[in-house]
Amino acid sequence: MMRRTILIVGVLGMLAGCQPSHSEWIAIAQNGMVATDSQDASEIGMEVLRSGGNAIDAATAVSFALAVTRPYSTGLGGGGFALYYDAGEKKSYAYDFREVAPAAATAAMFEVARAEGRPGSEPSQRGALAVAVPGVVAGRLAMQERFGTWSRAELIGPAIGLARDGFDVDEDYVRRCRQVVKYYNRNPRMKLTHRYVWQRHLREGKIRKPGSPLVQPQLARLLELIARDGADAFYQGPVADAIVATMQEHGGIITREDLANYRAIQREPIHSTYRGHDLVLMPPPSSGGVCLAEALNILENVDIAGMWRRDRVEARHAIIEALKHAFADRARYLGDTDFGSAPIEQLMSKTYALSLAAEMGPTSSHESDDYGTVQFVEDAGTSHFSIMDRWGNVVASTETINTSFGSLLAVDEWGLILNNEMDDFGAYRDRPNAYGLEHSAGNAVAAGKRPLSSMSPTIVLKDGQAVMALGGAGGPRIISSVLQVFLGLVDFELSLEDAVDLVRVHHQWKPNEVFFDKNPPEKLAEGLRRRGHYLSSQRKTGVVQVVRRSRSQLSGASDPRKGGKPAGY
Ligand code: GLY
Repeated sequence: MMRRTILIVGVLGMLAGCQPSHSEWIAIAQNGMVATDSQDASEIGMEVLRSGGNAIDAATAVSFALAVTRPYSTGLGGGGFALYYDAGEKKSYAYDFREVAPAAATAAMFEVARAEGRPGSEPSQRGALAVAVPGVVAGRLAMQERFGTWSRAELIGPAIGLARDGFDVDEDYVRRCRQVVKYYNRNPRMKLTHRYVWQRHLREGKIRKPGSPLVQPQLARLLELIARDGADAFYQGPVADAIVATMQEHGGIITREDLANYRAIQREPIHSTYRGHDLVLMPPPSSGGVCLAEALNILENVDIAGMWRRDRVEARHAIIEALKHAFADRARYLGDTDFGSAPIEQLMSKTYALSLAAEMGPTSSHESDDYGTVQFVEDAGTSHFSIMDRWGNVVASTETINTSFGSLLAVDEWGLILNNEMDDFGAYRDRPNAYGLEHSAGNAVAAGKRPLSSMSPTIVLKDGQAVMALGGAGGPRIISSVLQVFLGLVDFELSLEDAVDLVRVHHQWKPNEVFFDKNPPEKLAEGLRRRGHYLSSQRKTGVVQVVRRSRSQLSGASDPRKGGKPAGY
C-alpha cells in the first residue's frame, strides 16, 4: 500500500531531497538517480529507489511509464537493450530484447513488396510488414524476475495510473505529433487504415497543446493484464490474437507462433578500456558497443584533450575521422552474430585502432561515391534511461520503436503501437535505410534474426566502481552523441551540463557529410570546411541521458533537446 503512494510523495520528495542544481535538466543527489527523457518517468523511477527498490525495480517501473508518456519513442510494441552492473557481485549483465524478424520473413521480401506496392511506398518503414516481433515486455520482465525485488504489479501500477487517469503532454510530445500529422496529410488513406495514432494521438489533426491531458484507456487495460499475468498476457491469449488479427488485416506476417516463441536473450557484455576507464558495452545485434570502442580506441592514440584546449576544430576533425572508420566498419561487417560471424575482436583491438589513427591526416579526403542529400526521416522513436541506486547498482537501457510512432500501425483495442524495426535491416539492395545507413549481407533480413541497431547503452567503471551510465536516442546519432558526451566528461573536463549541451558533430561514413545537431559557431563550420569536410544543412539530433557518480555525489542529466528531467533523492 505504501508503495502505491509513490506518485503522491514524489514531488514533495524531490523538493526536500535534492540539492539545487544548475539547470532544470540537471539533478544532484546523494542516494539514487534516474535520468530519463520524460519527467513523469524519472519521478516514478526515483520514488521506487527512495522506497527501497533497486536499480532494476526502478528500470521496470520507468520502462512501463515511458510506454505511456513517450508513445512515439518506445512502448510495449518495441524492443531494446539493457546493461546492468550488479555492485554486490561486481559483475555486468547484458540483456537483448531486440525485436525479431518473423518466421516468414525473407531477404527479398521488401524488394518484392516495393515492386508490388504504390510508387514511393516504403513497406519496411510503414505498415504491417515493417513490424518485427516486439521484445520490451519479455525483456523487462525477464530482468525483473532475475534481479528485481518488487512485484510486477507494484512496478507497473504507476504506468497504469498514467494511462488510465491521464497525464499532461509536454512540448516534445506536441512537436512529434505535428511532424507525424504531415505524414498522414501526405498519405490520407492512412487516416483510415492507421486509425489509432491518427485519432488518439494526433486528434485528427487538432493536435493537443503542451499541458493538455492525454488518456489511453486501451493501453491501461493492456498494462493491467501484464501486471496481473506477466509476459504470457502479451505473447499469448487475446492480446496475441489481436496482434495477429491486425497483421492479417494489413498484410503483415507475424503469427501466433512468432509471438509465443519470442525470448529475451542474456548476452555477454563486451568490454573495452579508455584512458584508465573500463567500458561495459552492448554486443551485437547492437553496433553501438563495437563502434564506440573502435572510435575511442582510435582517439586514444591522439591527444584529444590537448587538441580541445588548443583548437576545437582540430578536436572535432579527429572525432569525425574516428566516426567515419567506425561507421564504415559497421556497414561492412556488423549484423546479428547469431546468424553469422563478425570480426568483433579485431574491430575492437588497440592495434587495429593504432593503424587507423596513423591514417588520420590534418584534412579529410572526399569520397567519390558521395550520396548527396539523403532525406532523413524524423528519428524520435527511441528512448534511453540511466539509473544508479544507493547500493551502487547501475542500469543503462535503450528502447525503441524505430521512427516516430513506429510503423504507425496499432492494435487499436489494446492501444498498442507497433514498431517498424524491420527497416533497421538492410531491407533493399540498392538503397540505405531511413537513417541513410548502408548494410552488408550480414544485416540482410532473415527469419528469426534481429536487425542491427545503433543503440549504445554504456556503463563506465573506474577503480572497480560504476561511475557513469549513459546512452541515447537518435538512430546513428546515438553513437556520435554518446561518444561526444563521454569525451566531454572524461577528456574535455566539462561539467555534466556543458558536456550534454555542447554542439555535436555526426558523421556516418556515408553520405560523406558532417551533420550538426544545432547551428555551429561559424569558426567551427569554416574550420571543418577548410579541413575538407562537406557540411550538411540538415539539423538532426541525438538525445543523451547520463547518470554520474563523482566523490560521494550523484548527478543526472536529461538532454534538454527532448525536454526530459532527471530525478534523484
Ligand atoms: N531503431 C534505431 C536503432 O536501433 O538503432
